[in-house]
Formats: sequence, C-alpha cells, structure tokens
Amino acid sequence: MHKILVTGGCGYIGSHTVVDLIEQGYEVVSIDNFLRSNEKQWQRVQQLTGKQIRNYAIDLCDASAVQNVLEKESDSVGIIHFAALRTVPESVQHPLLYYTNNIQPLANLLNSMQQVKIKNLVFSSSCSVYGNPDSVPVTEDTLLNKAESPYAYSKQICEQMITDVVASGADIKPIALRYFNPVGAHPSGLLGEVPWGKPNNLVPYITQTAIGKLPKLTVFGGDYPTRDGSAVRDYIHIMDIAGAHRLALEFLLQQKGTKPVELFNLGTGNGVTVLEAIHAFEASTGQKLNYEIGPRRAGDPATIFANNGLAKECLGWQPQYSIQEMMLSAWKWEQEMAKIN
Ligand code: WQD
Repeated sequence: MHKILVTGGCGYIGSHTVVDLIEQGYEVVSIDNFLRSNEKQWQRVQQLTGKQIRNYAIDLCDASAVQNVLEKESDSVGIIHFAALRTVPESVQHPLLYYTNNIQPLANLLNSMQQVKIKNLVFSSSCSVYGNPDSVPVTEDTLLNKAESPYAYSKQICEQMITDVVASGADIKPIALRYFNPVGAHPSGLLGEVPWGKPNNLVPYITQTAIGKLPKLTVFGGDYPTRDGSAVRDYIHIMDIAGAHRLALEFLLQQKGTKPVELFNLGTGNGVTVLEAIHAFEASTGQKLNYEIGPRRAGDPATIFANNGLAKECLGWQPQYSIQEMMLSAWKWEQEMAKIN
C-alpha cells in the first residue's frame, strides 16, 4: 500500500482529499498543527474512513521538525502540500503572516524531500496566481498578471520556488494544482468548510445567511461587464478537487510527467455569476436568500474561469458535480454544523 504524506490534512481541502485517498486504498500520514483546522474535523475524518490516521502536529516553519518527520516517514511515495493560509482580506491586513506561513514550509519540505529522497510533490496552488486575467478562460499558459493580494503573491512565489529548485538539479517531480473556487462539502454531511471567524468566501456567506447566522448577503458589485453585472467565477465541488489530487499523484507515480513542473487548472470550465450562484442555491435548497447589491470589493477580477482541458487530457480528470449539487452539499453541511457546534 502506497503511503502519502499530506500537510494540512485536517483542513478543508486536505481532509476531503485524505478521505478520498484512504477510500482508494492509500495509507495517509498527516502533518497539521490545527492552526486553521480543529481536532473535531480530524476526528470526523477518522470516523468517515474508519481508520486511526497518524497526524504530526508540528509547525512546518520549523525546518528541524519537518526534517524529523520526513526521516520517520521516508518510505512515503509522495507529499501533497495543502497547509497554507488562504483568506485574501487577512493576507492584506497581515502580509508577513502569509509570506511566512505560506512560503517557509514549502522551502523546508523541498529541502527535506531532497535529504530523504522523496521525489513526488503535489502542490496546492490557486487561480489567484493569474491575477486579473487579460482573457478567459485561462489556460495554464496564460501569463500571470500582478497578484491582487499577498495571499496570491505567496502562491506565485511558491510556484517559482518549485521551478527554481527543480532547475537547480533537485530530483523532485512536482505538480502544481491551480484551484479555482472550491465549494461544497462531503456528501455524508460530516465534512465541509469551517470558516475561520466571519466567512469571506461567497458560499459559506450564503449558507450562514440562509441559516440565520448572518443577516444578509451583499453582492460585491452589480456593474461588472458580465451577463447580469455580478462577477464571474469558476466554482468547483470539493469532491472533484479531492479526486484530482489522487489522479495527480498517480500521474507522478506512473512517471507520466514530461515537464520540469506540471501545472493543471482545477475548475469546471463554466463561469457562474454571483447572482446565478445565489439563484442556484435558492433553487436547489428551497431557501430564499436575503441579499442586496453593494459596491465592488477591491482586488476582485470581473471574470475568471478555467480552461480545464489539460487536467482532463493528462490526468483523466472529469468534474462530476453541478453548481446545484455544490450548493445543496454546502447547505447540508451548514445545517450539520448547527447541530454539532
Ligand atoms: C467569489 C465571488 C466576490 C462574498 C477565492 C480566493 C482564491 C481562491 C478561490 C483558493 C467574488 C463575491 C463574495 C460575499 C460576494 N482560493 N462575493 N459577497 O475571491 O473569487 O477567490 O477563492 O485557492 O485565492 O481569493 O472567492 O468566494 O471570496 O468570492 O459578492 O459576501 O463572490 O466578490 O466575485 P474569490 P470569494
């Protein structure tokens, strides 16, 4: 049984990927210090999989701690590196927190991977590396514009770091997965996105408004040059994102890589406006949403969505879930959280 090291295994995307990997027969070891996750989520991962999973609650910024864990787990066939902070407004207020937490761990991992001879790396990147794209849909060759936030810039820096380490001759085989907008929750209702404080992302904001935790949703901008004036994004179900990580790993294990750093967009390829997302939520859940149109949010591109042809072609990846299913699973999770918290 192949063993995979997953950093951030207790977080939103990490936990869904851990469940998928175990269900597909992999052994998983996690590294997560619960900076942005919690032990209850980790217990639910173990409940869902029926497995006791080892988790090292170390600070990935601590090079010696990282080295120690990778020496202990040196028989791992690869590492999936999720652990990072990902709240854009927070990154604007606390840039050093983001540059430290999102960059130093990757440097430590890349260094220790070379020491213990773990070659395969799947890196959690983001569509935010494109900045405000000049044209859509974006392909992996789309030029990266100026990052709109320290979070986005930290992801650009990480991709460049991986490129430079490989170019320096390191025997590392990396894939960077550029997520578009991960949303939704595990069909069991036991796992989902646990916002850190007040949500910033659209879908948790929708579900918290619907359940009455927040009074109303403000649509940030109704005057964009789009179908209905609200901004366009590429929402992708968390389960589709999770499955893509296993396929990326298998791509590396089968040594199918031909480039120094393989890049893949993980989006549905369908652009959806904020108002369309709200209407999809209302239609799929029967919940009427209290919202109003407000001013644009600084840094938001009007439109971004993926050309996902490369992931389909190379990884054999095919997103399965519709926007309605994304919204329904998010709503089911919000209702579940109300019971367990
Ligand atoms: C989506 C749309 C908002 C809240 C983020 C990260 C990015 C990536 C994907 C990880 C925008 C609008 C939102 C609200 C609204 N993450 N909105 N009212 O900014 O597209 O991207 O997730 O890889 O790095 O930045 O996501 O959910 O914040 O916003 O109108 O209360 O919803 O303006 O158009 P975003 P989001």
